[in-house]
Amino acid sequence: MRFHILTIFPDIFDSYLNESLFKRAQKAKRVLIKTYDLRDFTRDPHRKVDDRPFGGGPGMVLKVQPIWSAVRAITMRIAKGRTRRPRIRTILFSPRGKTLTAATARRLARYDHLVLICGRYEGVDERVADHIADEEVSIGDYVLSGGELPALVLMEAVSRHIPGFLGKEESLEEVNGSFPTYTRPEVFVPKHGSRTMRGRGWNVPPILLSGDHKKIKQWRETHGAAETS
Ligand code: ADE
Repeated sequence: MRFHILTIFPDIFDSYLNESLFKRAQKAKRVLIKTYDLRDFTRDPHRKVDDRPFGGGPGMVLKVQPIWSAVRAITMRIAKGRTRRPRIRTILFSPRGKTLTAATARRLARYDHLVLICGRYEGVDERVADHIADEEVSIGDYVLSGGELPALVLMEAVSRHIPGFLGKEESLEEVNGSFPTYTRPEVFVPKHGSRTMRGRGWNVPPILLSGDHKKIKQWRETHGAAETS
């Protein structure tokens, strides 16, 4: 899987993507991530990526031209010298998009390349949604200042479906995340200042300490939450 991120803030991605899971996955070449600064695709000497909205109103609107030039450069480079046509999907992040679900993430994991266009909250020229993006994705019913955090969220949700992205421990995390888990101590007694809550504490459900694996399995099934794959 290759992710191509179009943004006016490429530096935002560095720290998250160079840690832990993504660091390892990139090293193993299971995922390749490239950020593109939209300013590098402008046609004017001031590298202007936004302009005032037609019809008036507050804020600035991301221009269609740099986005078009960037997407075209990326897709042409991908296609160059290939015999098989790679599967490419272009996504625009917007609070008006379809909400990201586990099913969407699984579907998107089947593409070879995802081109991720990070909008800014004041707006993106609507021609990007109409003519360039294959789909608009929202990560939830709230407005963020841009598509950078949504891009990170989508990348992680998608990558978890790429074989080998999750190591043994994280796969286990995935399973554990689907029902409540506990670790030592069996009873935790919180201290308020120097006083302990005498005789009281927070207990682990006794069934998990029982050693009865059949019962534990049943308990986990009844206390389970979302899907795990
Ligand atoms: N851009 C701003 N808010 C967003 C959201 N909730 N989802 C995706 N992109 C966004």
